[in-house]
Amino acid sequence: MDIEEQAALTSGADFWHTRAVGDVPAVMVTDGPHGVRKQVAGEGHGLLDSEPSTCFPPAVAMGSTWDPDLLRRVGEALGEECRAMDVAVLLGPGINLKRTPLGGRNFEYFSEDPILTGVLATEWVAGLQSRGVGASLKHFAINSQETDRMRVSADVDERTLRELYLRAFQRVVQRARPWTVMCSYNRINGVYASQHHWLLTEVLRGEWGYEGVLVSDWGAVVDRVEAVRAGLDLTMPGPDDPGDRALAAAVRDGSLPAPALQTAAARVASLVRRAVTAATPGATYDVEAHHALAREAAGRGIVLLKNEGGLLPLSPDEPAVAVIGEQARNPRYQGGGSSLINPTKLDNALDEITALARGDVRFAPGYDDPEAAATLARACSVAIVFAGSEEETEGSDRTGLELPAAHLALIERVAAANPRTVVVLSNGAVVRTGPWDAAVPALVEGWLLGQAGGGAIADVLFGVVNPSGRLAETIPLRLADHPSHLDFPGEQGHVRYGEGIHVGYRGFDAREQDVAYPFGFGLSYTTFEYSGLAVSTVDGGLEVRVTVTNTGARDGREVVQVYTALPVSRVRRAPRELKAFASVPVAAGASAEVVLRVEDGDLAYWDIELRRWVVEAGEYTVAVGASSRDIRATATVAVAGDDERRALTAESTIAEWFADPRGSQVLTEAFAALAGSGGDGGVMARTVVDPSMFSLMASMPLERVIAFAGEAFGPDALAELIKAAN
Ligand code: BGC
Repeated sequence: MDIEEQAALTSGADFWHTRAVGDVPAVMVTDGPHGVRKQVAGEGHGLLDSEPSTCFPPAVAMGSTWDPDLLRRVGEALGEECRAMDVAVLLGPGINLKRTPLGGRNFEYFSEDPILTGVLATEWVAGLQSRGVGASLKHFAINSQETDRMRVSADVDERTLRELYLRAFQRVVQRARPWTVMCSYNRINGVYASQHHWLLTEVLRGEWGYEGVLVSDWGAVVDRVEAVRAGLDLTMPGPDDPGDRALAAAVRDGSLPAPALQTAAARVASLVRRAVTAATPGATYDVEAHHALAREAAGRGIVLLKNEGGLLPLSPDEPAVAVIGEQARNPRYQGGGSSLINPTKLDNALDEITALARGDVRFAPGYDDPEAAATLARACSVAIVFAGSEEETEGSDRTGLELPAAHLALIERVAAANPRTVVVLSNGAVVRTGPWDAAVPALVEGWLLGQAGGGAIADVLFGVVNPSGRLAETIPLRLADHPSHLDFPGEQGHVRYGEGIHVGYRGFDAREQDVAYPFGFGLSYTTFEYSGLAVSTVDGGLEVRVTVTNTGARDGREVVQVYTALPVSRVRRAPRELKAFASVPVAAGASAEVVLRVEDGDLAYWDIELRRWVVEAGEYTVAVGASSRDIRATATVAVAGDDERRALTAESTIAEWFADPRGSQVLTEAFAALAGSGGDGGVMARTVVDPSMFSLMASMPLERVIAFAGEAFGPDALAELIKAAN
């Protein structure tokens, strides 16, 4: 390939195709993530005209399943649909952390926790790619807000970046090897993601060993030459003839090394070959089976938040059910923007409740007329109110956590009219549940559930499905409580990630704040007991064993969660960090022994001095429970760690010298000799070794202290001391 052909391969042919160059054909990429949004030919970016495909639950609901196996099955189904539609790469999953509950695209992201996100997304990608279809892991990186998303600089320290915002990407890249990774629009510490050499080349490729294609988000590239120099392979959409020419010119005039362009073009070509080899013309998929899977997944993503007096599940023989709220008839089942799927079919909760109930089911649209709704509720044996946010969309963040005023008024009126009121929420990110939930005995968090969500809601309401969804994000009492609150959405082009590592529940726990519903929380129609916790060190990590007993009368699923802490640590740590989890079916009355693995790498923190991951030695707390605030058993375990001794230097403090056994010994010896002498040297030495002076001296770097001794302790003596200490 000549230089012009290479350049041409590194930008798209149009919105959804790579460019055919020489013997390299074009392939199609489409959104994603929770369905296949294949644009009708010639329709560009028009969101509304795509071929029908199964609208699976968006990530907000999939994240709440906490079930890697389910994610894999949905990934496989999406892969089958892509193959049937001749799509080579599906643009997902989105794995940015939900840093703020206001994030406009939170519905497209899994969680506020990097391990939960990473484990689930790994399975999704593996499932998709097992069908010969590439994933596009997005948006790399730190794209946790929509406000000013194409310019804003996410200003974040390296430890937070590594431990929180990059951790899920690292996991998925290393374990599932996505065919493509999509860079984000925003800047990171001042540099556009699409031009970020450190992020794209040093970290992603160098440290993590990524070999696939780096594609831009649509329109994220500002400067084609700088993007290729930084390690980006494919700029989308296309065509971009001026950019192609600029690239070729840069190679010819030597300002861009020729191998940079060659490598980018070669990667695109190998992606295309891989896709062409895997293509299966004429493939089909089973629309009904995928709809059934979408219903199963939706049922598993629903989180039962409240169920006083066992109001739920409802009996099919409930004499009269009032279904209230237009969303029961016209469901809100996905968010707005590039992920909008044209579903193959669409269930609604009203029809599905009617199908399961043997008694009377009556409907009132509600929001504009709470009085009529209240009258209906009063006349029925139970009232189910459908309420939800209406805001979530790509491109803008939400303005608050409150439900729409009309929905709040409706809930209030209906709850006053019928004490047996159930509220079902439809929302893509958390809404404030108080203070109104005090008046409501049962509360079902239905997120955005995809095309079969209506059936899934009915399944949970009537106990066909025993709820096992758990919150993948904290529901705060108030927006102002949230760790991100003071640093969102930023100003003058910068958003400072001021809460650092204390994202989501980490921040609430560190400040010992009350929340409405904690991370990991969700009720079941049965109860579980934990017993026999045993934690041991095994090769590569910790093994956690615990027995879970279903002590209720119904079969159910428990999501066992393992959190660790290191109370005495060199660095600041969150009081609890999720490290492992398992979604386990347990029949009524039965027990299951659950074995979980905490990998060493997941215990590591990012050390900014050593600039690498460190598993700190120490006594770790391992807390096992049903939520981040419902810990059922705790153990401690000694971890040897992989700490290297940090060399003592002239800049090390007196405290650091004395904390080190060898350093303490040589310092004490050297200063004992000097202490007997007169003059400045004697004074200095006597002061340093005097225990009553320690608090004053502790934070002083050794060389600064030694300077007080003047000639008595010169540079050579200091050098000797350092040598002896190390
Ligand atoms: C979104 C991506 C999406 C792309 C293509 C962008 O605006 O950020 O998530 O894949 O458009 O539609």
